[in-house]
Amino acid sequence: MKIIQTKNYQSMSKLASQYVINTLKQIDKPVLGLATGSTPEGLYQHLIKAYQTHQISFANVSTFNLDEYVGLDKEDKNSYHYYMHKFLFNHVDVPSRNIHLPNGIANDLNVECTSYENRIQSVGGIHIQILGIGKNGHIGFNEPGTSFESRTHVVDLDESTRRANARFFDSFDEVPNQAITMGIQSIMQAKEILLLVSGSEKAEALEKLVNGKVNEDFPASILQTHQNVKIIADKAALENISYRYVSETM
Ligand code: PGA
Repeated sequence: MKIIQTKNYQSMSKLASQYVINTLKQIDKPVLGLATGSTPEGLYQHLIKAYQTHQISFANVSTFNLDEYVGLDKEDKNSYHYYMHKFLFNHVDVPSRNIHLPNGIANDLNVECTSYENRIQSVGGIHIQILGIGKNGHIGFNEPGTSFESRTHVVDLDESTRRANARFFDSFDEVPNQAITMGIQSIMQAKEILLLVSGSEKAEALEKLVNGKVNEDFPASILQTHQNVKIIADKAALENISYRYVSETM
């Protein structure tokens, strides 16, 4: 696990975009795992800028998102379908047939989970997975207690996660109770993981991820056992980590 420190959110986002662009350029048909939330918005802005200035094309890229709320359709402004189109897909040349998110309004959610997992396998797996982390250690929507063996599945969202995400909704009651998420195994099968962390409110979670016991009560701790994890974090998020473990460059 390599930890790279940046000054602030902007420099974290820029460095992440440069790294993603370089990686995409080296692969014939890259498969990119994507995340939602506040953390990757800056990364997506930089990727759009890179596309607009002809530094990168997404024509050969396939994308798989980590998760989607259950019960929200694609047009719902709080769905992750909507988020991804707003913050990235509408502004770059990724073909719509290459875009994959779990369908949170599928008739049979369990069938949808299996089919999503199969779709990831059918393109040969994810080359680089972008991740954020929740204060409770969740990755994707894998809440504390999720089995490390899990594949794409339906989850009941923690009240703390619903409260954290309520800022995007008109009221707390509107935040869905369930989501579909890639499982811990699905995430761990990515060839490379790029975790972005910003702000002092994530410092405790990041410290636990790096130094804590590998334990299902803190899902992100599993990343200690992945062969190729890079964490790009700003100074505030790294305030509990000794500088000895931190590098300034990729
Ligand atoms: P955030 O969410 O980027 O909005 O902080 C991250 C997460 O909960 O995984």
